[in-house]
Amino acid sequence: EKGGYEHFMLKEMHEQPKAVKDTLTPRIKNGDVVIEELGMTDEEIRAIRKIFIVACGSAYHTGVTSKYIFEKLARIPVEVDLASEFRYRDPILPENTLVVIVSQSGETADTLAALRLAKEKGVRTLGIVNVVGSSIAREADNVMYTWAGPEIAVATTKAYSTQLIAQYLLAMKFAKVRGTVSQNDFDAMIQSLERLPEQISLLLSHKENVQRFANRYLAAEHVFFIGRGIDYAISMEGSLKLKEISYIHSEAYAAGELKHGTISLIEDGRLVVAVLTQPELYKKTISNIQEVKTRGAFVMAVTTVGNTEVEKVADYVVYLPETNPIFANSLAIIPLQLFGYYVSIGRGLDVDKPRNLAKSVTVE
Ligand code: M6R
Repeated sequence: EKGGYEHFMLKEMHEQPKAVKDTLTPRIKNGDVVIEELGMTDEEIRAIRKIFIVACGSAYHTGVTSKYIFEKLARIPVEVDLASEFRYRDPILPENTLVVIVSQSGETADTLAALRLAKEKGVRTLGIVNVVGSSIAREADNVMYTWAGPEIAVATTKAYSTQLIAQYLLAMKFAKVRGTVSQNDFDAMIQSLERLPEQISLLLSHKENVQRFANRYLAAEHVFFIGRGIDYAISMEGSLKLKEISYIHSEAYAAGELKHGTISLIEDGRLVVAVLTQPELYKKTISNIQEVKTRGAFVMAVTTVGNTEVEKVADYVVYLPETNPIFANSLAIIPLQLFGYYVSIGRGLDVDKPRNLAKSVTVE
């Protein structure tokens, strides 16, 4: 059942190229993004004034990423909420709001409650769901399936990757209809998307390098992940992957926030993972790397090929293949998933079933 892999998580990480492709390909037709299941006319898409993305855990992290993308491409304001917060904060949901609910299982109690609240308030809802026929899939006005297939490991990997794809497509569709993206840029994005599966395979094929590095950090007590913009969202997911399966305390910080408190936790030998995939922010994050280096941190950087400046400041660099920076999460997350996985198994833990966690959180 594990298809020759030692653990479900390892198998599912390796299924990502296919999962991404299966989620992407049926929705790209003749160079255009076609999402029939969206059930919205162009006029309805143009009328949307605000988007809420509501989810828990890793699904929430995909929402944080797509906020940047939606706002950049389609110029629609987006709020991202944890479902457990959204449902109790009496959210303001004006007419022409779209609520996007993201969930692998389609059964997460808080996420389902958030969906029901949005429906009660009379706004349009769209589910991005992996499990066909699940509660969220049945109750949302429309559902866009992620085609990751069954995910068994508690730590999500392939479902996360497909949730990103679904939201990239959605943002591109909105941008196209609203005329906020040029045809040239749009065509280039399609090309970048189509290259992702192969690029993910390439990163997976370098797993031994990540394992060697992970083996040096099996006894770490605290790990900090830093980044800006989309790199901050990637950091959140990288940090969650590590902590939930390795039981090592880890935190994600917006790199610019370090000075506002966190930097006091940096001391000799502390591992800091810096994510740099957004070229316009490279310089800023490099200066944050210098700040933690000065205080004795050991820095692992995940960055895009060509950003050789990072080598001058970081101790260990993982290079990602070139892509449109808005899609960089899909690549940067691969070495971070691998890092969490190898730290967990290196510590002899039950990586597929970490203590205290359930695959699907059906009670609040
Ligand atoms: O099934 P869902 O996508 O609604 O689940 C949401 C979270 O419970 C889930 O992403 C959780 O955070 C994972 N353990 C992360 O790996």
